[in-house]
Amino acid sequence: MFHVTIKDTYDEVSKEAFKIMKSVLNGDHTPVLGLATGSSPVGLYQEMIKDHKENGTSYKDILTFNLDEYIGLPRDHRESYWTFMHQNLFNYIDIPDENVHVPLGCGEDPEADCRAYEDELSRHIVDVQVLGIGSDGHIAFNEPGCPFDSLTHLMDLTEQTRRDNARFFDGDITQVPTKAATMGLASIMRARKIIMIATGENKADAIKGMMKGPMTVDCPASILQAHPEVYVFLDKAAASKL
Ligand code: F6R
Repeated sequence: MFHVTIKDTYDEVSKEAFKIMKSVLNGDHTPVLGLATGSSPVGLYQEMIKDHKENGTSYKDILTFNLDEYIGLPRDHRESYWTFMHQNLFNYIDIPDENVHVPLGCGEDPEADCRAYEDELSRHIVDVQVLGIGSDGHIAFNEPGCPFDSLTHLMDLTEQTRRDNARFFDGDITQVPTKAATMGLASIMRARKIIMIATGENKADAIKGMMKGPMTVDCPASILQAHPEVYVFLDKAAASKL
């Protein structure tokens, strides 16, 4: 079930999304957080950092699981998702590094690393999973065609996704990795609540497919139609095709 909030600016979208995050952080137990990278959640993470500084919200006992990681980038690469999460959130809150989980993209046996990640994830229930959406309808790096029952796995990135993400790699698509390790669609669906953040016109078709299209692997995000509690935060451009 989708609960949709549409705001004028990215800042307002992030503040609204934070309200759901804050309610989970203030809940009756120490939560497990599912986190995403990319541009969409950066404002939410800024709100979390501000709240940590101003209100002392602590992450000492909180576990986090990230959605995905590029294959082939060492953890200290400037564009690895490990680095992204530290630069945009973890370095500014009091979470111990041992509580942080990001799929391993640089191991010797990436398939075994995916199985180990799913194994660890399956020992917990994610209280809230933060998601962005790709212009091709992907969530995490589950690209069109990915089965709905997928668990953490390796995925070939589509040309469209690599083109979209080239902006982080000096605009050069050849530098964008071709594969990622990603939580699967079934892994994501186990989360109790989902926060989806999307802004900008290039997300409008994907948001329409997610909410109004048929539930089909052609638009992986459409699986969220079957989730009981999805909070969708959009600006007007991303909502323009609803
Ligand atoms: C990132 C992720 C991706 C992004 C999506 C949108 O961990 O899983 O699905 O959420 O590619 O990226 P942005 O927010 O950069 O437009």
